[in-house]
Amino acid sequence: MYLGLDIGTSAIKAVLVDDGQNVLATAETPLAISRPQPGFSEQNPEDWWQATLASIDKLKAEQPAALAAVRGIGLSGQMHGAVLLDAFGKVLRPAILWNDGRSSAECRELEDRFPALHRIAGNLAFPGFTAPKLLWVRKHEPDLFARTAKVLLPKAYVGYRLTGEMVEEMSDASGTLWLDVGRRDWSDEALAATYLSREHMPRLVEGSAAAGRIKPELAARWGMETPPVLAGGAGDNAAGAIGLGAIGANDAFVSLGTSGVLWATTDRYAPNPQSSVHAFCHAIPATWHQMGVILSAASALGWWANVAKEAPGDLLAPLGDAPKAPSRATFLPYLSGERTPHNDTAIRAAFIGMDHDTGRDELTQAVLEGVSFAFKDCLDALTAAGTRLTQADVIGGGSRSRFWIAVLASVLGIPLNRVEDGERGGAFGAARLARMAATGESPAEICLPPRRIETIEPDPVLQQAYAERHALYKALYPALKGVTS
Ligand code: XUL
Repeated sequence: MYLGLDIGTSAIKAVLVDDGQNVLATAETPLAISRPQPGFSEQNPEDWWQATLASIDKLKAEQPAALAAVRGIGLSGQMHGAVLLDAFGKVLRPAILWNDGRSSAECRELEDRFPALHRIAGNLAFPGFTAPKLLWVRKHEPDLFARTAKVLLPKAYVGYRLTGEMVEEMSDASGTLWLDVGRRDWSDEALAATYLSREHMPRLVEGSAAAGRIKPELAARWGMETPPVLAGGAGDNAAGAIGLGAIGANDAFVSLGTSGVLWATTDRYAPNPQSSVHAFCHAIPATWHQMGVILSAASALGWWANVAKEAPGDLLAPLGDAPKAPSRATFLPYLSGERTPHNDTAIRAAFIGMDHDTGRDELTQAVLEGVSFAFKDCLDALTAAGTRLTQADVIGGGSRSRFWIAVLASVLGIPLNRVEDGERGGAFGAARLARMAATGESPAEICLPPRRIETIEPDPVLQQAYAERHALYKALYPALKGVTS
């Protein structure tokens, strides 16, 4: 029996998986984001911990015997967030999250101070990443910076509460800008560029390796006789890849979650920072990946549903299942700024092209299309980075909408697969990493692909219509930049 925990942005999810890889039970505890100033995004690490305890306690109430038989626990986590701890392991301030945009000036400063950054860390300095956040804290909260003894990512903080040890793994560490991604080790130079050293970092392991053991008192609370092994785990996207079996070169998926990700597994370190593609380690040894990341995917639909005062499902229902001609309105989904391909925290979203006949359904369609165009920008960025995708799976909350997947297939021009349990998220992949860490089984044995429910091919007529719309969409970014940022 294995337990996967996803330390997400909107919830902590826990999943119990048996030896036949069947999901026995799941539990979820919601989380809130605090936005103390425009562009800021924070959470209290104690809230993650309490929600983790609550989620595991729910599993205990439902499946006490199965929980007691857990041999390994794995963590998946929202990436890039900075948790600052003092020398006693006490949290110094709320965690600054992946979708926080406060550190643009510090990104420029970091790239100026450390020209080798792109070569070593494989990525542009994005404000969402961890290192520029520490430069911001040094500038704006110097006392806290001086007291910072360790910097952990969100899931490593939960791991610390579970085991008492501070350990990180390669996939999440790649999103800090402190990792030498090709060598899979902390970079002393990158750390020095933010006035830090290796001492401030947790110990590094591979995601499928053991990171420690659960504290005896927690194991006793959950009825476990032998404290389970904790695996290194994975950033949420790498955990999603493990769950999908995306471990071979060119295995690809689209994640329609809060943020959106276009992922491609690579068998080597293949950076191309200028295209705003992320080049990161995978959560298994000797494997890497590239991804394009958009900051608002399913969350754009969530925003529109709030505005329209409807549940997302009720907004989607009138659109049906089959794609149709593009909406006359165009939506640019930059509600939190954008990462790939613009690296622009200041840009904001827009609807363009409405007339008196434009109604709610057409605007809903425009939102789905706008997010799909943002994914097309990611596909073009991956292509510029040397990756050719011929098909991809689709996962995340947005994958519930067949209409959306069909639009996306025609916009991207590649077949997309709807998969069984596509909304499972990182927790299932984390449970697989737990099993590899506890048993020593190999990724090839454990990371099997899910059953494909349906493959949706691009529609040649719509593909042409969407290609023309995407050209318009691309032309709108510079115009919007002039007026919103
Ligand atoms: C990836 C990223 C997001 C978060 C969401 O670079 O920022 O996908 O991991 O949790």
